[in-house]
Amino acid sequence: MNQKKSKKLKLVIASSNAGKIIEFRKLLDDFPLEIIGQPKDFYVEENGKTFAENARIKAIAVAKETGHLSLSDDSGLCVDSLDGRPGVFSSRYANSDKERISRLLGEMENILARSAYFCAALCLASPFQEILLEVEGQCKGLITNSPRGNKGFGYDPIFEVVGSGLTFAEMGSDEKQARSHRGKAFALLKPGIEKLLNSQFFLSSL
Ligand code: IMP
Repeated sequence: MNQKKSKKLKLVIASSNAGKIIEFRKLLDDFPLEIIGQPKDFYVEENGKTFAENARIKAIAVAKETGHLSLSDDSGLCVDSLDGRPGVFSSRYANSDKERISRLLGEMENILARSAYFCAALCLASPFQEILLEVEGQCKGLITNSPRGNKGFGYDPIFEVVGSGLTFAEMGSDEKQARSHRGKAFALLKPGIEKLLNSQFFLSSL
């Protein structure tokens, strides 16, 4: 095994969503961290009422389970004309991305007001289950009438980003990162991670 790599501090991404893990690996690329996914088959009940509450629940549960630093993301799509649905139920709206998209488009069939936003709450927890950092980012857009594009994951093909004319699924990963709820939340989190990794006090407490 690569000696240098094995000495890196481990950071567990508290998610089993492959799309999110790919995005986080890219976002955390500059840091001397070994990014790993949460244990296979690990399940946490997301019973919070807000994205921030769910992010906290997941980060703490995964830190407790693994004994490592844990970064969670709770995110979802909120449609204004549906009173914010699917919101915190975004991943549970149906059984697959395709069915979730089809349910949402069905519910919006006769609705002209298509404004929506994505929200991402990020939470970093210490191996001792303390909350170290919490941030939130949003991205405004419109729900399209039909799916467009084949990149990304989740609701990407039906979310057209305001001012871009493109859905997330039509954008390259760099453009999505620059505009997305997760990219914006991460930009807020980054200085905090830098500060922690430069703190001898923090590092020696691990
Ligand atoms: P959770 O945060 O893992 O509970 O689930 C969030 C759900 O929201 C995902 O399963 C997706 O359906 C949706 N979602 C969150 N972020 C994105 C995104 O960047 N693109 C598309 N769908 C997203």
